[in-house]
Amino acid sequence: MIEAVATFSLALLSVVLIWMIYLRRAHPEPHLDWGRQDLDSIKFPENFHWGVATAAHQVEGGLRNNWTAFEESKDMELSGDACDHWRLWEQDFQMLSDLGLNTYRFSIEWSRLEPEEGAWEEGPLKEYSKMVDDLISRGIRPMVTLHHFSHPHWWEDKGGFSNAENIPDFVRYCDRVHAALSDRVKVWCTINEPVVFSSMGYALGQFPPGKRSITQTVLVMKNMMVAHSKVYNLLKSKDKDSSIGFAKNVTLFDPTNRWSPLDWAASRLLDWIWNGAWQRAIQKGRMFGSNIDGAKSSLDFIGLNYYTHFVTGLFVPTATSELDFQKRDNEVETDFGYPMYAEGFRRAIEYASAFGVPIEVTENGVADASDSLRPEHLKRHLWILSEAIKDGYDVRSFHYWSLMDNFEWAEGYSMRFGLYEVNYEDQSRSLRQSGEIYRDLIKAQLKR
Ligand code: GAL
Repeated sequence: MIEAVATFSLALLSVVLIWMIYLRRAHPEPHLDWGRQDLDSIKFPENFHWGVATAAHQVEGGLRNNWTAFEESKDMELSGDACDHWRLWEQDFQMLSDLGLNTYRFSIEWSRLEPEEGAWEEGPLKEYSKMVDDLISRGIRPMVTLHHFSHPHWWEDKGGFSNAENIPDFVRYCDRVHAALSDRVKVWCTINEPVVFSSMGYALGQFPPGKRSITQTVLVMKNMMVAHSKVYNLLKSKDKDSSIGFAKNVTLFDPTNRWSPLDWAASRLLDWIWNGAWQRAIQKGRMFGSNIDGAKSSLDFIGLNYYTHFVTGLFVPTATSELDFQKRDNEVETDFGYPMYAEGFRRAIEYASAFGVPIEVTENGVADASDSLRPEHLKRHLWILSEAIKDGYDVRSFHYWSLMDNFEWAEGYSMRFGLYEVNYEDQSRSLRQSGEIYRDLIKAQLKR
């Protein structure tokens, strides 16, 4: 008997050990000696697109939507005038030109176009159309996001993405915007970071509607995939030249202790949910056991939003716990609290390439009010990107997050992500040193 238990334990131990050796090899967590890399030796293709990204709710100001209702109900910092960009956009677009950019990612605010159900306003759509004309006249490619975390309050009241019956409203809105702009806008992001939206809003309760339910989270994720594929297929049928994707937040989950089977289990599970679900939906047309009609291959490019890795211990974000950031000893902490981990950008690119379509980097940046980290952050990430392109990864663009400081969702105005610093008292903008670096680097790359 004792012999049998001992043999069984030994066998189990060997299996766990082999499993861990396999995982350690299959999912390496490289850390470079950055002092040894020549960050100036970067080379991008001539036709590479250089840009920045913003989102309507974070910059426009003067909105009434699911977010403003949430801000008020939670007594958090109000988005209010934001960067007053709705009024100042022409001046802000001059900043895009000053940086020498040739692509700009921004989002359309549905609550402006349909403030009450079925009551469409033509004025705001005309304004967006003017923005598109202005961008094109500057030689800047517009990339339009149709849903970037915000939507009308009436739609939220109906349950938003948590109710499949609401999806036609969203599709109708997208169709309308596409009909008005698709003669000039050729690159579209249907939805920004669906997994962030669903987990922050329905599991962690930090985004509207502030719920904490795993079943609702999974439902919202599925419905967002349904919405994406419906919009993709409809817009594609109307304009074959539209290039349509979504922006995927790729967070890497690394086990706190790389010899701990429990930490591995937690990190692989989170990766399976966070990064795997949308990949499986595109590759196989299935998500969490359900067939999603039309989802398979509903993608012309994959938008990659990369910020950091999540060092994962036994802690798993659940309905009752809060996010907690850990960092490795050699890592620098950003203002947000999570570490700068540029090495992970390469891993995120490798992950994104498995979607089988070209990659557009739709967001990458850092919260750094003093601008002391941003120059190095920018250089490291661009070096990683340049190396990846040299190694054959098909990455077409880089959009820095963000053009200017703006309303950072649950964190309010405390997090400053801008190449331009914004003085919210008088709405003046001033270029940070990192902005100068980005501008000069783009100039040098485009001149080659
Ligand atoms: C992303 C989001 C952006 C911006 C950024 C910085 O998740 O899409 O809107 O907030 O994070 O944290």
